[in-house]
Amino acid sequence: MKVHTYEKAFLAVGAVVLVACALALVYATVVHGIHLPDVSGRVDPANVAATPPFDQPGVYQRGPDEYEAVVIGRAWSFQPTEIRVPAGAKITFTATTTDVIHGFNIEGTRLNMMLIPGQVSKNTYTFAEPGEYLLICHEYCGLAHHLMHGRIIVVPAGTDVPLVNGGAVAADAAESAAGDAAHVNH
Ligand code: CUA
Repeated sequence: MKVHTYEKAFLAVGAVVLVACALALVYATVVHGIHLPDVSGRVDPANVAATPPFDQPGVYQRGPDEYEAVVIGRAWSFQPTEIRVPAGAKITFTATTTDVIHGFNIEGTRLNMMLIPGQVSKNTYTFAEPGEYLLICHEYCGLAHHLMHGRIIVVPAGTDVPLVNGGAVAADAAESAAGDAAHVNH
């Protein structure tokens, strides 16, 4: 069988592109650790308000320079609507929904999650600079979808932020890092 030269070249180019894409995929997953988000937990959507930590949405300090923002999405608002966190700290957003699928997107960042009834969504981010960020729902969720938004206010590092739990640091973290914590939460 005679294969035309141009046809051979075309096949070769196709093979090279295929191998290059496969290698890029392996490189992204192995070297850069890029994966689809895992399921971070489950929660009964009918019982969100009674299930910790969602029974008290807000900001918790989890360690020196480490905070968790617990957020509930529902048609058509976020609770709390305004979240204050310090710049430079590691912020974990833990969110879920009580009704339908909502989006959780903080503009200008890579924070982009879906809130799915029954599932807990988590993502961690460090805001480098103080400023205001818009939190929007970017999954169509009904009539007032376009009004569903919140605000993330990033205050300068070292500024107090209102905490749901009164600023109590987990006991083990407090011991090892009492000194570090002092500048965040005095
Ligand atoms: Cu919630 Cu769109």
